[in-house]
Amino acid sequence: MAEQTDTAPDGSALGQGAHQGPRHVAIIMDGNGRWAQSRGRPRLFGHHAGAKRVREIVECCPSLGIKYLTIFAFSTENWKRTQVEVAGLMSLFRRYISKEMKALAAKNVRVRFIGDRVRLDAKLIQLMDQLETETAQNDGTHLTIALNYGGRDEVARATKRLAQDVAAGKLSPDDVDEETLPKYLDTHVLPDPDLVIRTSGEARISNFLLWQSAYAEYEFIDTLWPDFTAEELGRLCRQYGTRDRRFGAVKT
Ligand code: IPE
Ligand code: IPE
Ligand code: MG
Repeated sequence: MAEQTDTAPDGSALGQGAHQGPRHVAIIMDGNGRWAQSRGRPRLFGHHAGAKRVREIVECCPSLGIKYLTIFAFSTENWKRTQVEVAGLMSLFRRYISKEMKALAAKNVRVRFIGDRVRLDAKLIQLMDQLETETAQNDGTHLTIALNYGGRDEVARATKRLAQDVAAGKLSPDDVDEETLPKYLDTHVLPDPDLVIRTSGEARISNFLLWQSAYAEYEFIDTLWPDFTAEELGRLCRQYGTRDRRFGAVKT
């Protein structure tokens, strides 16, 4: 497929930047378990392979013009899995943050975590805090990792804090609107995602960024997460560039 054309499908001239890629990409990294099972290996083998994919994907962001990358690592629903799988994932996150993430941090990546930390173990929370602090001055790719994250849980926690501010007289109920509520979300410093990708063939969002993705473009692809590559991300970004985001308006 030609990456650069002089005219859009409607015949209008395309200036530089007319086909822009997404600035904020969010990914539901799904399919680790099936990837491992198809090789006759335990699910955790797939999670390790999946974690290894993250580095390449983060590193290719600058060349694709992606400034914000948000990845779904563990949902509020994933506690329903076996104790062995949950414990294995938590141990993988600890190891990953101490090693792999430090390497990314050295590449000017700014790391943030979203989700509810209360159910996470103290050591993991400490590593998350440390990584956020250590990378706070970095201004390259903004990597946000959703860990014990659920969109409904996030909105509920945000509403609770908002209600507390109202009760304390810091906020008037009349001031609660579409601008105010997102200030209480975990993502309050991030722009909304432009493109949400889900791997593994499932066409659902599984409680990911419910508020923030109201107008995101979606890509559901069959690739299992451990097979996802920078090349495929590039293809999806170019495809995104051909979409017409109308936000409810009519093109004139
Ligand atoms: C996604 O892969 C990773 C997490 C949810 C932690 P899965 O573990 O859901 O893999 P499948 O969907 O069972 O193949
Ligand atoms: C969504 O995947 C959560 C993550 C990728 C972390 P799941 O595998 O948990 O979602 P469902 O169960 O298929 O909806
Ligand atoms: Mg899954």
